[in-house]
Amino acid sequence: MTDGVFGRDTGHEQVVFCHDKASGLKAIIGLYSTALGPGLGGTRFYPYRSEADALDDVLALSKGMAYKNALAGLDLGGGKAVIIGDPATLKSEALLRAYGRFVESLNGRYITACDVGTYVQDMDVVARETRFVTGRSPEDGGAGDSSVLTAFGVFQGMRASADHLWGSPDLAGRRVGVAGVGKVGHLLVGHLVEAGARVVISDVSAAAIERTVAKHPEVEVVGSGDELIRAELDVFAPCALGGALNDETVPELRAKIVCGAANNQLAHPGIDKLLDDRGILFAPDYLVNAGGVIQVSDELHGFDFARAKRKTARIFDTTKSVFQLAEAEGVPAATAADRLAERRMTEIGALRAIHLG
Ligand SMILES: NC(=O)c1ccc[n+]([C@@H]2O[C@H](COP(=O)([O-])OP(=O)(O)OC[C@H]3O[C@@H](n4cnc5c(N)ncnc54)[C@H](O)[C@@H]3O)[C@@H](O)[C@H]2O)c1
Repeated sequence: MTDGVFGRDTGHEQVVFCHDKASGLKAIIGLYSTALGPGLGGTRFYPYRSEADALDDVLALSKGMAYKNALAGLDLGGGKAVIIGDPATLKSEALLRAYGRFVESLNGRYITACDVGTYVQDMDVVARETRFVTGRSPEDGGAGDSSVLTAFGVFQGMRASADHLWGSPDLAGRRVGVAGVGKVGHLLVGHLVEAGARVVISDVSAAAIERTVAKHPEVEVVGSGDELIRAELDVFAPCALGGALNDETVPELRAKIVCGAANNQLAHPGIDKLLDDRGILFAPDYLVNAGGVIQVSDELHGFDFARAKRKTARIFDTTKSVFQLAEAEGVPAATAADRLAERRMTEIGALRAIHLG
């Protein structure tokens, strides 16, 4: 957006406000960049306190998707949408279909998917009005639950971090703390147990703990996320909410590697320096948790799980490249990841200058 519209320059290409009075739909679609292709990112359905809060969120989330998709090697730009309201009371077929029509009206510049508050079944409804939707149910040719490859990608990022720090990707015998054993966390535990790691978990939900322990009785459970952060660990994997790494938790952290699925793990940008100063290797969240977007984006080519898994496995090499660049340029890994993503957006985006006749 240009300076003046909202009194600031956020760097976004396009922001679309969508209103359908009859169904109560109020949505904002943010497109940060389409340099690499259509902007792909999920739809967050959330009871924002104000339209300004919703706008801030969609601007930050769509920018994040541009970086995530660029680093994942996808030919996709960065977009995201928010629907304002409580999904428990506001969500209806009419609202989702109205939303689908707005997505369709962008003619493929934006492709949607699930996010907080929206599910595979919702995308099936949205798909009745637009072609530009992923994350639909497998029965409809969709990729289904994206947690499967998200967890696999985080596991690859963790192996790459171990390789960088300890000279071997083998996690056997390493003590790994997984904070949050929801959809992604409990699948990550499965990969870790299989790899011979000693796993310690925490979750605020007793049901989530029970489900994980029933499947993997060998895991150790601690009472809280704080306890997990202070535990004697080799690797800490934040798989719950954002902001797990902050001014209070980082000084307490005993692990040498942080690699997890949660989005926006750094409470503020200065935290990556704090981690660096303490000699803790941080695998940038948007790099290692890209398996989900890789999974749903594969739907655009007719979903093939094996192909999507192969693409997700490349997170291992990208993570190593990020650490190497960070060392070469003397910057924290999060900065190196940003630089790689920006480089790809600039270099590949510039190819459009070659006229195709
Ligand atoms: N699902 C995906 O494909 C995907 C993709 C990319 C990123 N992510 C991110 O990964 C994280 C986990 O996603 P998910 O889909 O597994 O969500 P989820 O809601 O299924 O799981 C989150 C789990 O964290 C627990 N939790 C909440 N607060 C906690 C705390 N303070 N301490 C410990 N546990 C706590 C919850 O009880 C829940 O079991 C989120 O940050 C999400 O944005 C998910």
